[in-house]
Amino acid sequence: MVFCADRLTGMQLSVIGCGYLGAVHAACMADLGHDVVGIDVDEAKIEALAAGRAPFHEPGFPEILERALESGRLRFTTDPTAAAGAQVHFICVGTPQLDGSDAADLQYVDAAVDSLLPLLRAEHEDGPVVVVGKSTVPSGTAERINAQITPTGARLVWNPEFLREGYGVKDTLYPDRIVYGVTSDESGKAAADVLDEVYADQLRRHIPRIITDMATAQLVKVAANAFLATKISFINAMAEICEVTGGDVTQLAVAIGHDDRIGKLFLKAGVGFGGGCLPKDIRAFAARAEELGRGDSVRFLREVDDINKRRRQRVVDLAVEALDGDVTGKKVAVLGASFKPMSDDLRDSPALDVARRLEALGAHVVITDPEALGNVTKAHPELAQAPDAFAAAKNAELVVLVTEWREYVVLDPEAFGQVVAARRVIDGRNVLDPAKWRAAGWDYRGLGRP
Ligand code: UDX
Repeated sequence: MVFCADRLTGMQLSVIGCGYLGAVHAACMADLGHDVVGIDVDEAKIEALAAGRAPFHEPGFPEILERALESGRLRFTTDPTAAAGAQVHFICVGTPQLDGSDAADLQYVDAAVDSLLPLLRAEHEDGPVVVVGKSTVPSGTAERINAQITPTGARLVWNPEFLREGYGVKDTLYPDRIVYGVTSDESGKAAADVLDEVYADQLRRHIPRIITDMATAQLVKVAANAFLATKISFINAMAEICEVTGGDVTQLAVAIGHDDRIGKLFLKAGVGFGGGCLPKDIRAFAARAEELGRGDSVRFLREVDDINKRRRQRVVDLAVEALDGDVTGKKVAVLGASFKPMSDDLRDSPALDVARRLEALGAHVVITDPEALGNVTKAHPELAQAPDAFAAAKNAELVVLVTEWREYVVLDPEAFGQVVAARRVIDGRNVLDPAKWRAAGWDYRGLGRP
């Protein structure tokens, strides 16, 4: 990894919040040569990170964590005052959905700012002190934080993060763009210069850097996620239409995706989107727009959410249909628990949702996942599990594929067919070859395909 060649030593950074975003950010910044302290209130998480154990599944992260810890440039603590020596403070805490509301819960952002305030000052021995907001927040939050920290002399930059789970290290070290939201005065310019120093390695590679005002920077993140969610729900809406017209949504996606203006990516129809970002971000966006009196402008996001939720029920309905109208007591193997492959994250996971709905209908569900079973045990100990697809499908009357892990995509329908009680499969991600599975005697049902 390239060392910050412009400096003899790295910059002093603190990272507050060590979840997917913060832990990966802290390790990557240390790997780039900076001195980093990662701070979190979760003692178990800090203990694991300090010992070089990744608290979540993220390809490439354990290696970079170990290297950064060995370099002596990275440490973790639950002590918020450990941020005192840093010049740049990154706020990376979560903004989950509030209980009983669509709005974002800002308590962790507020707590992070409160813990920083007594430590902030205008200047560090290396230059201006800067607070960098990376958490995904509703419009107006950055302005509020800016008003809180301005009296200390420190400056704020809003620097949204676009990392995808499963590609966190790559997206942090090689982002496709960097966005700074700054105030329009000299202070904002000085703050941007400091962040340029932090990201010197990335900027040297000519990664586009877009400087905006605070309001725009906060919106960039929610607008990007809203667009991605809309694209997925668009193709899932087309899947619903295919289901009544006899069309094949996978062919439709290929055919429209060749138009560069539309693009091929994020056009995979299936059980829909989940995870810790897209679902809660579109809800929080709609809720904030309503508060601002512009609910109409993003009302379509409610529809995007509804389409997405309907696809989960569609998989359940297909399961009931495949089992002749009654799933009671029937063994159903569910392949996948995480919200997407390469992740063990169960937050708002369509796979887990489908498994639980089938279980609630009386099916005997056995779930499997290459990485997420530990989390399933913690969150839903009532769900029966098996270590792999073959074990889960033993004597099953129905197989439901809901997370497209590679080992499920490449299953041999003939060999796999040997273990089940009946060759019935629902392809909730449209990743299996229907012709091949049908030729092996399977009753194949996809989403939006005949
Ligand atoms: C997303 C954004 O991509 C990222 O930029 C942002 O910083 C955080 O939110 P992530 O939640 O990691 O990242 O997942 P992503 O890869 O975007 O997938 C989200 C969901 O959409 C998954 O459940 C995935 O299975 C689903 N999806 C994705 C589809 O159903 N169809 C597609 O074509 C693409």
